Amino acid sequence: MTVPQPPEPIPGARLLFSLDPSVSHLNHGSFGAVPIGVQRAQQRLRDEMEANPLRFFTQGLVDRIAHTRRHLAGFLGADPDGTALVGNATTGVAVVLQSLGLRPGDEVLTTDHGYGAVGFSVQRECRRTGATHRTLHVPLTADDEEVVEIVRSGLRPGRTKLLVVDQLTSATARLFPAAAVVGVARERGVPVLVDAAHAPGMLPISVASIGADFWVGNLHKWAYAPRGTAVLVVAEPWRERIEPLVVSWEQEAGFPARVEWQATLDYTAWLAAPAGLFTLRSLGLDRVRAHNAALAAYGQRVVGDALGVAPADLPEPGGPTVSMRLIPLPPGVATTMDAAKALRTRIAERLAAEVAVMTWLDRGWLRLCGQVYNTPDEYDRLAVRLPALLAQG
Ligand SMILES: Cc1ncc(COP(=O)(O)O)c(C=O)c1O
Repeated sequence: MTVPQPPEPIPGARLLFSLDPSVSHLNHGSFGAVPIGVQRAQQRLRDEMEANPLRFFTQGLVDRIAHTRRHLAGFLGADPDGTALVGNATTGVAVVLQSLGLRPGDEVLTTDHGYGAVGFSVQRECRRTGATHRTLHVPLTADDEEVVEIVRSGLRPGRTKLLVVDQLTSATARLFPAAAVVGVARERGVPVLVDAAHAPGMLPISVASIGADFWVGNLHKWAYAPRGTAVLVVAEPWRERIEPLVVSWEQEAGFPARVEWQATLDYTAWLAAPAGLFTLRSLGLDRVRAHNAALAAYGQRVVGDALGVAPADLPEPGGPTVSMRLIPLPPGVATTMDAAKALRTRIAERLAAEVAVMTWLDRGWLRLCGQVYNTPDEYDRLAVRLPALLAQG
């Protein structure tokens, strides 16, 4: 079987990271990796904070956060006045859910590709308010038109108070047609929250053009920001209804400051986030995206071949810059979350490779990512050694 050529490496890129060289880090998608220069930028900000905490917090911090917010919103093509910095995508989702004012009889609609913790958040808000949670099944092989059609026929106008749809799914590494889904929901008057946790940095996006009521994205995955950096983008009509999870001194300032200011916290991750974008731009955005996507595709094929998976059975992610790819595991492997976790740990310990092992619809999947610090031989080594490990049961 012919395997696609791996991309040209980006020379020296690995040296920008402090990753343990004895390990293949093939799961950038879960927690990212912060370049050394960005870690240093954050440490300098922390030094400044510790040199005079009073001055740091009381003189200009709110303005510095606003400046950062404008910078990040510009990068994402989002309206800066509708953008709030939050700690992570999970927080952004919770902020939206508890601001909706759900009531008994209302429902929140999600798909079965949604992120587990987001599902729990929806369930809790439904329990708290007497609303219900309904999940739509979207087959892995559904094309964009089918996805839109499944959503269109799943909406219950008047009753569905929120549709949550992923821009790029975590468990299935699948690009959903977010703008088209928002379009059909809008026609039926259903607000949409787009969970775009993986989009910033990886996908060339314009948040404004998606047109969602709410959009959340992590900068701490593919945009090289320190952990704890995400944005919640809110469309004009909703902004005044958005309440923070924790009420603090900026409550009277309205959106976005009231969501961002969460009392005494370490805000240095946000302030250092532009250094992550600087790194990305210095490497070349298009070059990084093309490299990562091609490397993930290469990894999918070599590992897929080694496991005897026909190329036609390797899921396509649906976009040219998607840098995560799925490989089906043999039947019976990693069919529960506990089994998936145990397998991931075994792969890390025995093969010195960090990968994601997913369970989706009772089937086990390996998810591989490509990043500038990865090289083709890391996937080759995994391909050689994984079949024997799986055969041991
Ligand atoms: C689709 C999706 N939503 C939400 C999250 C949660 O991100 P965080 O842990 O940064 O809140 C993730 C994390 O991987 C994700 O993939």
